[in-house]
Amino acid sequence: MPLPIFQFEEYMTMKAKQVNRALDEAVPLQLPVKVHEAMRYSLLAGGKQLVEGDESSAMPIACALEMIHTMSLIHDDLPCMDNDDLRRGKPTNHIVFGEDTAILAGDALLTLAFEHVAAKTFNVSPDLVLQAIAELGSAVGSKGLVAGQIVDIDSEGKNVSLAELEYIHVHKTAKLLEASVVCGAIMGGGNMIDIERVRNYARCIGLLFQVVDDILDVTKSSTELGKTAGKDLVSDKATYPKLMGIDNAKKLATELVAQAIEELAYFDDARAAPLYHLANYIASRQN
Ligand code: IPE
Ligand code: MG
Ligand code: MG
Ligand code: MG
Repeated sequence: MPLPIFQFEEYMTMKAKQVNRALDEAVPLQLPVKVHEAMRYSLLAGGKQLVEGDESSAMPIACALEMIHTMSLIHDDLPCMDNDDLRRGKPTNHIVFGEDTAILAGDALLTLAFEHVAAKTFNVSPDLVLQAIAELGSAVGSKGLVAGQIVDIDSEGKNVSLAELEYIHVHKTAKLLEASVVCGAIMGGGNMIDIERVRNYARCIGLLFQVVDDILDVTKSSTELGKTAGKDLVSDKATYPKLMGIDNAKKLATELVAQAIEELAYFDDARAAPLYHLANYIASRQN
């Protein structure tokens, strides 16, 4: 299917700027300075803004998702987790601020995310805000991101099945991406059927995101990635290239894009345009 004409790069740049400005305001440098400095250091490091939704009413949840995403990266990089010292081209949070502060900065970002949505979302009915908060909580908790992370860590050095690997990736990565898209749909007043359809789409691109992450880890340099390349091999992580080889992993990525785009068939072309492009962008990202 040909892609609808849409200025995706400009759209992303504009969104990223808006979200960054809102994040800057949401986490001012205040007392106690050390923890806020650590929060801002990673939060404003220019990552990949995850959320969809162009209403200003969706901005608090967009910021919340960035806060949670940043927390997950700060904690993922800790010595007791993946032990990484480079992220987004800069020394990781614990390298700069120490492990104690990095843990607390992550805790603060995670809690602020929920506070921010609850306190700063206006012009959306309270039951929709509640629904979005519940979605967010379940995506990050012990049945979501935490589940994926614990199984990921436990699987180091072990042989895992394809089903187990999919479980890891869907939970540690896809759940949050799914929540981003679904929360955008909830806040935008989408009906239940629409929400389930974008959920299926988002799960595909979420899994795709991590399959591509695994591929990039073995095909790119640290400079290109802004994080340590080849790290999965050193830690003997369960990854798609490890399980099925690079070529099959790339084939799977292609299948996931096609599947994601298929899920969008129900939607009006113009409305779904950003989502079409997002799927392709994730598939072809180089860092
Ligand atoms: C972790 O996956 C995803 C989360 C942060 C929850 P990875 O450990 O593969 O992420 P990178 O490669 O460090 O970015
Ligand atoms: Mg990890
Ligand atoms: Mg990691
Ligand atoms: Mg990785």
